[in-house]
Amino acid sequence: MTAQIINGKELSQKKREEMKIEVETLRKQGITPGLAVIIVGTDPASQTYVRGKQRACEEIGIQSLLIEMKESTTEAQLIAKIDELNKEDSIDGILVQLPLPSQINEQAIIEKISPNKDVDGFHPINIGRMMTGQDCFLPCTPHGIIEMVKSKQIDIEGKHVVVVGRSNIVGKPVGQLFLNEHATVTYCHSRTNDLKAYTSQADILIAAAGKQHLIQGEYVKRGATVIDVGIHRLENGKLTGDVNFDEVKEKAAYITPVPGGVGPMTITMLLHNTIQSAKRFRA
Ligand code: GUN
Repeated sequence: MTAQIINGKELSQKKREEMKIEVETLRKQGITPGLAVIIVGTDPASQTYVRGKQRACEEIGIQSLLIEMKESTTEAQLIAKIDELNKEDSIDGILVQLPLPSQINEQAIIEKISPNKDVDGFHPINIGRMMTGQDCFLPCTPHGIIEMVKSKQIDIEGKHVVVVGRSNIVGKPVGQLFLNEHATVTYCHSRTNDLKAYTSQADILIAAAGKQHLIQGEYVKRGATVIDVGIHRLENGKLTGDVNFDEVKEKAAYITPVPGGVGPMTITMLLHNTIQSAKRFRA
């Protein structure tokens, strides 16, 4: 069996075309959705991600404001900037690119962003709302993953979802979103004994451990859906994931590629949250 590809790039393009029309309608009402992206320091990977987010905003008519702050920025300076943006009516979403330099407490910063502008869905209020199944900003990568699975009409209810990874950004929330969809969820991580014993039971396997090719063919049940959240640069410059794609595609029924899988969907869900914010609080 060769797996069907869940193409995140194609799905993103489709969703972004729909969003472009939504933004046009808002703009006709005098509301231009606005996203502020703050980057502190000069980490090359963060700069690449931030540029991708800005470009995506511009393509669909969202106004993007890039705020570049020095590596030596203090926590107080960053908080002052967030306070300013919290009060700015033309800004619907605030995103502080992570990771932050070590002198700044990330959690303190996340908690300073107004929950109503927290388009990353990282604020404890939004996380709490997600856990209790209330309306909120969902974190972008987990939300993108759910959308990818649903795009193929793959059954979630009653299925066994195994999440490998327990980050606050992906692992923990993606498990919660699948639980909200009535899946049975198992969390594994770097200290799990006998990882393969768990992953090989998964109907839907989420690889979000940040470890290149951790998931080999023998880790996967025949007919499973495999979602690869990893992103690693090989020596030849190409990108790869947490999943050994060539092996796993021979066992899985559905698989996401790297690049062109989860990555574009993360940005698409950020655009979605920014539009939702403009609609919720300004329309
Ligand atoms: N760094 C890596 N992924 C993300 C993300 O989704 N949001 C933010 N703010 N920073 C990140």
